[in-house]
Amino acid sequence: MAQELYSKITDALVEDGYIIIPHAISKELSKNLLSTAKKIKRFKRAGISNASNVHIDSNVRRDKIHWLDYDNGGVQSEFLDLTKGLQQYLNRELFLGLTYYEAHFALYEEDAFYETHLDAFAGSRNRTVTTVYYLNENWEQGDGGELVIYDENNSYLTTVAPHADTLVVFLSDKFPHEVLPTKKKRHSIAGWFRVDKRAGIPLPLEALTSLD
Ligand code: OGA
Ligand code: MN
Repeated sequence: MAQELYSKITDALVEDGYIIIPHAISKELSKNLLSTAKKIKRFKRAGISNASNVHIDSNVRRDKIHWLDYDNGGVQSEFLDLTKGLQQYLNRELFLGLTYYEAHFALYEEDAFYETHLDAFAGSRNRTVTTVYYLNENWEQGDGGELVIYDENNSYLTTVAPHADTLVVFLSDKFPHEVLPTKKKRHSIAGWFRVDKRAGIPLPLEALTSLD
């Protein structure tokens, strides 16, 4: 089952650079991840990085985050094992040299959004492949919170509603994207395969070179 998913994602990354997969893994998994997300007491305001530091700017993004961690065979481990498998598959087939995967639960409260951005700076060695996995049951037209994806020339590509068990994967430095204001609580897991071990927010190139 996982192998089929991995090969579908791999083919799409080669051909289009992105893929949207409804009913990607299982309803059970997205349901269990949602109940875990709902139990999190301490979501933190997410930051953004500009020239050299990380700060919070509520005009750019208004999501709150909590990093995933292995939970001894629990649902986070299940999800992280799946992405570990994808990491190995991508490395074997595409020689991407991915060394690390980081992921956080994200909560967008009513009216929250995330302005158009790239997850990595072009040609930088940090975030390489982005995953977004949605957890929302019964999302309806009019609830807002759609992910809008643009191409390298900033032309509109597609819109994704954040339905439970929908998985989106794209090359982190190629696709500007935004989250439209949501009309109700919106749960997701955003994750990034990296070629370094630095967890956190994308760093500017200057900072990265000094890390090496
Ligand atoms: C992000 C992001 C998209 C989404 O966290 O960088 O773009 O649909 N998330 O939640
Ligand atoms: Mn993003």
